[in-house]
This record gives sequence, structure tokens and C-alpha cells, in this order.
Amino acid sequence: MTTAVIGAQWGDEAKGKITHFLARDAHYTVRFNGGPNAGHTVKDRHGTAKLHHIPVGTLHEGCKGVLGHGMVIDPWTLQDELAALEAQGRPRPKLGFSDRVHLILPHHKLREQVQGSAQRIGTTCRGIGPCYEDRAGRRGLRLGELDEEDTVRAALGAGIAELEAAGCKDPYDVEKVLRDLQEFNEQAREQVGDMRAEVEAALASGRRVIFEGAQGTLLDLDWGTYPYVTSSSTTVHGVGWGTGIRSEQLTEVIGVVKAYTTRVGEGPFPSEDNGAAGEQLRERGGEYGTTTGRPRRCGWLDLVALRYACRINGFTGLALTKLDVLSGLSEVNLCVAYRTSAGTVEDFPAASRELSSVAPVYESLPGWNEDIGGTRCEDELPRAARRLLSLVGDFVGVRVSLVGVGPAEEEIVVID
Ligand code: IMP
Repeated sequence: MTTAVIGAQWGDEAKGKITHFLARDAHYTVRFNGGPNAGHTVKDRHGTAKLHHIPVGTLHEGCKGVLGHGMVIDPWTLQDELAALEAQGRPRPKLGFSDRVHLILPHHKLREQVQGSAQRIGTTCRGIGPCYEDRAGRRGLRLGELDEEDTVRAALGAGIAELEAAGCKDPYDVEKVLRDLQEFNEQAREQVGDMRAEVEAALASGRRVIFEGAQGTLLDLDWGTYPYVTSSSTTVHGVGWGTGIRSEQLTEVIGVVKAYTTRVGEGPFPSEDNGAAGEQLRERGGEYGTTTGRPRRCGWLDLVALRYACRINGFTGLALTKLDVLSGLSEVNLCVAYRTSAGTVEDFPAASRELSSVAPVYESLPGWNEDIGGTRCEDELPRAARRLLSLVGDFVGVRVSLVGVGPAEEEIVVID
């Protein structure tokens, strides 16, 4: 099995937990998009790991993590992340970096402030958009170029010149940044190379490889709620885009969907609930950003959006997470259509303005009171919860095969 794990909503679907579960017998976990804007949380015997760049499979001994060329990496944040893992008493993860991966430099973060995207889009302020912009504009810096001092100086100089032109005087100390990058280069040198070839060889020799998506389908640069999206390819199509592995090499595509919906940052969200139910979901679900600490916007599960994500990604199964958060609600809503001035629609529109103007059409199901954290098999779930699972599967045409019933690694129900 070669598996891709993809977010089906606006990120934060608990992909970390699901990828960690699926990677227990994996030889490789490969990230293909995004960077430190991601926050993948895993709760295991060492404590709670919050990973931003490092693939979660590396928390299992013997599983190597690959940072594919579709990612953007921030050497400073990456080192903090490694130090935090070490402080938890974990072994140093085995990593491989694509030599084509682009580096987030200090001017990328500063440019985000100058451009105002933090306010306009509600970005994570990690320099993600500006780094991808420089990559597409053919002025970025790749990890494999760190030995070329003139190339590094040119990239830093151009970044600074742009900031100064925008009125930002002496934005940072170039010599210090240069020294930090050289140090990082020395430390990482042995781990940098052609990761496409390494993963391809692993697949050819029958190794189990998991591709770990970051963010979610609705934040995809093209398929998401543009312009309120991230700057990378977050769907299954990002696997080829960000690693060079061909789509026919994937045998399983798992869509991760939360039992309700959350979103951070600006942009349309038809099933958002600004009342007591939304507040309850936020508090019970601990819906505060792993990367930024921002409170997440909360609302009901949107099946129109989920069906759209299923069509784009060709999910072979769904992992429905945080079902336990719904326990104790007298009623659970599912958005099954959108109401517009022209009537009811069942498709997810491309235009954010159109999506902002729709009203959700809900189907309400009875809730349940049982605490389901200890449940390990489908039959033990309350009838109302089982009904919800089958309704979701029937509506979108993809079966729910995994159910998250709590934050810990073992709190999962596998449905055969
Ligand atoms: P950026 O990726 O920092 O450029 O942010 C663009 C949009 O994507 C903003 O709305 C962010 O809140 C959102 N976003 C980026 N990464 C994540 C994530 O890992 N989870 C949830 N939302 C994210």
C-alpha cells in the first residue's frame, strides 16, 4: 500500500494523528507541500509533539521522513522543532531533504507584513506566500544552492532591496543570516539529495511510503476558496507536484475530515456557526491554532464541500476525526446543500464571492450523550453516531474507514 493522506477541509483535520496511525508500519513518510504554516499534532507516550516541517511518521523508529521539493522550509524554525523533540526525550528523526526545496528567508516573513497579506488573507505569517512567489518568480534560493555563497548573497540582497524600496530600513543583518545558513548547510549536508530518486527506489523495492499532506483541499491554491488559500498544492495532485512521484504509484488516498468544520483566517465558510454551538465546538475541540494559537472559526460538517473534495482527490476512504467532540450535543447538523437567490445548489462554487453569499441547508440528526473515548470498535459506538457515519459515507460516495474518538494515538476505531 502506498498511501496519501489529504485534508478534506480547510486544514486542521487531525491529519497528524491519522498519518501517525497509518505510518506505524511505514518505511518513509513524505511531505510534499507547505512548510511551517502546518501544525501536525501527535500525542504518544513521549508527550504531545507539534510538528511543522518534520513528517509525523518519523516519530516511529525506523521510519524516515522526507521533505519533498514542493515544500518550503525555514531553517531556523526547523532547528527549533528538532530541539523541541529532543527536549521530549525523543530520538533524533531520520530525515532527507530534497536539494530542490526552497528556503524561507527573513525577508519573506517581513514581506508578508509589508504586503498586508496577514490582514487580508489571515495568513500564518510564516513567509509561506512570499517564498512560493519567489520560487515562481525564479528568484528563490534552493537548499542545494547553499554552497554557492554568491547565489545566497544575491538572494538576500534582492530580498532586502525590495523591502527597502517599500520603506523598511535595514531589515536584517545579512552577515548573521549568511552565517546561520552556512551552519545549517554543514549540519544538513549529508541529508540533502535527490529525494525523488530515493522515494522511487523505496517504492520499487516494496517499501511502505506514506505521503503526508499539509493544510486541506479547500486551502489549495487552485481548488480552494481563492484568494483565501495557501500558496501550494494541498490535494492529491500535490504529491506529484511536490515529490515527482507519479499518481498511478498511489494505491490508497485517505481523506481526513473532522466531524464538524473549522477554518482559520479569512474567507467564505457557509456552515460557520457564530452562536452557542460554534462556541461549544471550539471549547470542546480545543480549536486554537497549533502554529499561531488563533481561535479557529467553527461550524457544522459541510457535505457539499466534502463531496467536492472527494471528487478532486479520488479518496478511497475517509478518516473522520474528533467524533468525540460531538458527544453531548442534543442535535448534530450536516450541511447537505446551499441556498442561493437562484434556488438550491448542490455543487461547490469556484468563486469565493458566490460561496460567501450562500446559506446552508441542514439535515439535523439526533445527538448522543455517551463518552466514546474508550470505544475501539464500530459496534460500540452509539446508534446515532453510527447513523452519522453511514449518512456521510452515502452522501459523498466514499466509506468512512477510520474514526478518531480522542486525541491519543490509540483513540481510533477501524471500520473493516
Ligand atoms: P499561509 O499558508 O500562511 O499563506 O496562509 C494562507 C491561509 O491558509 C490562511 O487562511 C491560513 O490560516 C491558512 N492555513 C495555512 N496553513 C494552515 C494549516 O496548517 N491549518 C489551517 N489553516 C492553515
